[in-house]
Amino acid sequence: MKKNGSTSNCAEAMKSLALQADFAKSQRIALPMSLVGKRILLIISAGIAAYKSLDLIRRLRERGAKVVPVMTAGACEFVTPLAVGALSATPVYTNLFSREDEQDVGHIRLARDCDLIIIAPATADLMAKMANGLADDLASTVLLATDRPVLIAPAMNPKMWAAKPTSRNVAQLRADGHAFIGPMRGEMAESGEAGLGRMAEPLEIAAAAEALLDDGPKPLAGKKIIVTSGPTHEPIDPVRYIANRSSGRQGHAIADALARLGADVVLVSGPVTIPDPKVAKVVHVERAEEMRDAVLTELPADAAVMVAAVADWRVEGASPEKIKKQEGEGPAPLRLTENPDILKTVGHHAQRPKLVIGFAAETQDVEKNGKAKLARKGADLIVANDVSPETGIMGGTRNRVKIIAKDGITDWPDMEKEVVAEKLAALVAERLSAQ
Ligand code: C5P
Repeated sequence: MKKNGSTSNCAEAMKSLALQADFAKSQRIALPMSLVGKRILLIISAGIAAYKSLDLIRRLRERGAKVVPVMTAGACEFVTPLAVGALSATPVYTNLFSREDEQDVGHIRLARDCDLIIIAPATADLMAKMANGLADDLASTVLLATDRPVLIAPAMNPKMWAAKPTSRNVAQLRADGHAFIGPMRGEMAESGEAGLGRMAEPLEIAAAAEALLDDGPKPLAGKKIIVTSGPTHEPIDPVRYIANRSSGRQGHAIADALARLGADVVLVSGPVTIPDPKVAKVVHVERAEEMRDAVLTELPADAAVMVAAVADWRVEGASPEKIKKQEGEGPAPLRLTENPDILKTVGHHAQRPKLVIGFAAETQDVEKNGKAKLARKGADLIVANDVSPETGIMGGTRNRVKIIAKDGITDWPDMEKEVVAEKLAALVAERLSAQ
C-alpha cells in the first residue's frame, strides 16, 4: 500500500491551518466527545462530494475519533491526499500494491483494526464492487476483508442512483447488513440537476456514525417522549399555503438525542426536507390541526418537547379548488383564523406529561416574552431564542438559547443545533429522574 507522507512545506502549512482551526474551536465550546477512543476507517471514493469528506474528517475528529483515510485512485483526482492527511493527521492509504506499506500495516489489518468503516462519498461503482465481492484496489479489498460495521454515504447523479443496477446493489448491500445514510434530495454540485443523489452532510454522517457506535448510558430507557418539529403548512388552496422558515433541524436533533439516551420518542413532524431521525415512531403532518391531533393521540407520555414552529393562523375556509387570478380584480382576500395552541393544550391537559418543554422564537424581549410564555402555556421550561434575521438561527445550523425555568434563567452560548439537542436531552433526563 502506498502511504502519502507529509514532509513538504505545503504539508506543514496545511497542518498549521488545521491546528489554527482546532484552536479556534477550542475557544468556543466543547463538543460532545461521543466518538472518543473510536477508530474510523474513512474510505473516500471518486465523487465531487469528496470535498465534503474533508469537513467530515474534522467533524469526526472533534467528536474524539481517530480517522484513518483510504482513498481510491479516482478520489485523488477530486481532493489531494495531502489535504486529507493534514486534516486527519494520519497517513493516507491509496495503493494496494506497495510492498513496504503492505508489510507495515497490511490491508487485512487495516480492514479489521477499526470500530467502523465509513464510505463517503460512495460511488455507484464502489457499491457495485462491494455488492458483488470484487476486490481490485485497496478500498474494495478492505471492504471485502472487513468484519466491522460499514456505513455507506452514497453520492451520485440522480439517474445513476435510480438506475436498476444501482437499486439491486443497494438492496444487496442492505441485505448484507450494511448501513446507509442518504443520499439526500438536492442540487448536484457538478450538473445542477436536482433529485435524490446528494451526499448527506458531514454532520448527518457523523450523527449516523455516533448512532452505529453508541454504547453510552440510557437514562431515558422506558420513557415515552413526544417531540414536535418543523413548520406547519396552512393551505390557501390545493397548491398554495402559508408557512415559515423552520427547517426542523433543531426539533429533529432533539428527537434524535433523546432517542440516543434510550427514550421511546414519537416525533410529530411538519413538512421538512431533512431525513427522519432514528426514533421509535415518526408521524408526518402538514397542518397545525393535524399536528395537535397526532400529539393528543400519543398521550399519556412522560415528557413533551414542543419545538415545532406552528403557524399561529390558518386560512378560514381554504378553497378546495385553485383560486384563479381574475384580470383586473386584484388578489382574493384571505380571512385568517387562529390555530389551536398545541403546547398550551398539552400544558393544561388532564393527561399532562410530567415534563413539558416549549420553545419561544422571538425577535425582541426574548427573556420577558419567554417568561410570560412559561406561565401562559403551562410549561416547565421554555427554550427561548432570538430569531431576528441577522442571527441566522431560523433555518440555520447553529442556535443560541436561554433556558427559562420558574426558578431562573440559564444562558447557553452559541453552538451547533445538535449540541443544543444533546444538552437539552441531558437536562430532560436530569429533570425526569429528579421527579
Ligand atoms: O406562542 P408561540 O408560537 O411563540 O409559542 C411557541 C411554542 O409553542 C413552541 O414550543 C411551539 O412549538 C408551541 N406552539 C404550539 N402550537 C401553536 C403555537 C405554538 O404548540 N399553535
